[in-house]
Amino acid sequence: MICCCNNVRKSEIVAAIAGGARSMATIFDATFAGCGPCGGTCQPEIAAILKQQLAAPSAASRGK
Ligand code: FES
Repeated sequence: MICCCNNVRKSEIVAAIAGGARSMATIFDATFAGCGPCGGTCQPEIAAILKQQLAAPSAASRGK
């Protein structure tokens, strides 16, 4: 679980990136991760996943 506010798992973020999301905003549009009552404490984790996925998409899609 990456975003507890919106119940978004890493696999959903990976899927959003695989589906074309390339920024925090587009990941939010696809999954609602990163903008909840906590104020976005999960954003660094989402950014790290995004960076990892864009660097090595095939390897990262295995990590759930
Ligand atoms: S945990 Fe993601 S916005 Fe709060």
